[in-house]
Amino acid sequence: MRHEMSNTVKVGIVGLGRIGKNHARNLARRVRGGELIAGASPVAAEREWARTELGITKLYETMGDLLADKEVDAVWLATPTSFHADQIVAALEAGKHVFCEKPLALTLEECKRVLNAAEKQPNVTVMVGFMRRYDPAYVEAKRRLDNGDLGKLFRLHCASLDAIDTNGFFVQFAPTSGGLFLDCSIHDIDVALWMTNGAKPVSVSATGIRAMYPDLAACHDVDTATATVLFENDILATFHASRTSHHGDETSLQLVGTQSSVSLGVGGTPTSEVNVQKGNANHCAMVVDFFARFEQAFVVEAQAFIDAVRNGDTMRDRLLEARDATRIGVAMREALEQKKIVTFE
Ligand code: NAI
Repeated sequence: MRHEMSNTVKVGIVGLGRIGKNHARNLARRVRGGELIAGASPVAAEREWARTELGITKLYETMGDLLADKEVDAVWLATPTSFHADQIVAALEAGKHVFCEKPLALTLEECKRVLNAAEKQPNVTVMVGFMRRYDPAYVEAKRRLDNGDLGKLFRLHCASLDAIDTNGFFVQFAPTSGGLFLDCSIHDIDVALWMTNGAKPVSVSATGIRAMYPDLAACHDVDTATATVLFENDILATFHASRTSHHGDETSLQLVGTQSSVSLGVGGTPTSEVNVQKGNANHCAMVVDFFARFEQAFVVEAQAFIDAVRNGDTMRDRLLEARDATRIGVAMREALEQKKIVTFE
């Protein structure tokens, strides 16, 4: 049921790290119908950043204090992945609308707890941050597929490649991330579910290596990995993820059908249409990170959340798909760690 448009949605953001700052800037400056009024972070420097950079005055050390703020309608979670499930549940119990960065959670038990809490708040919006759904290239690929241009889809290949990290961030980030598949490929798993209208997985296999970051061994993670998922109706999907890209960010998709195929982002994204030739070389500057690659998609995603809250759209179907994405991500991790093929019932 759709509700009448409400007034401005007052948002409180929790977590002001790498991506939290990006979201905070967008919420403060680039969305209509929403207002960033509060922030929470245990780190004083991050709270100070929000005060000086964005003029936010309600700044809390803990999420609990932010949830107690009656003026906050919606909570925006940009916190470490291992906290997502508990924090979504706490926000729902406080009666707030929730946006949470991906992935929804790291286990199916956690997903279940979130779904149970959401069921008790039938009018509250919950959205997980899969911003590829708001990127024009992905939207166009989906349009062509739905239009029937590709015929019957039988093959997907998705890649999420991060530029080589020289400052050690990935290794520090890894213990709470859920591992390469749940952290990176989760976006592509969501894309696969979106493109196939929620096709059911049949089996998963996976392989991975530590090519450049041996320290990832401490948390059993890898920096380069590939998973193969067979979906129902003979749709074969492969997912490649790495932290070892020499050409910057590559977020790519290839769809093959019986009539035609489409691809986007293969080989990375140039920052300019101009190539420069010099010294027997062809120079083409590439997008370095996902902030640049998805700059616009992050804004459209934020707008979609605000619009959903204002329109009374609870986004429950998307929440179920986020749960299904976690199920496949967990299976990939299990296949990788246990060197076996995981099958679904
Ligand atoms: P980060 O480590 O840079 O930031 C985490 C933030 O959470 C920091 O501000 C930290 O102070 C805060 N924090 C830590 N414990 C807290 C607590 N108990 N209560 C409140 N705040 C707390 O991490 P990053 O890279 O910003 O990632 C955050 C989330 O965003 C992760 O779940 C990650 O998967 C997701 N992410 C999504 C991306 C996308 O493409 N959509 C890209 C990068 C990250």
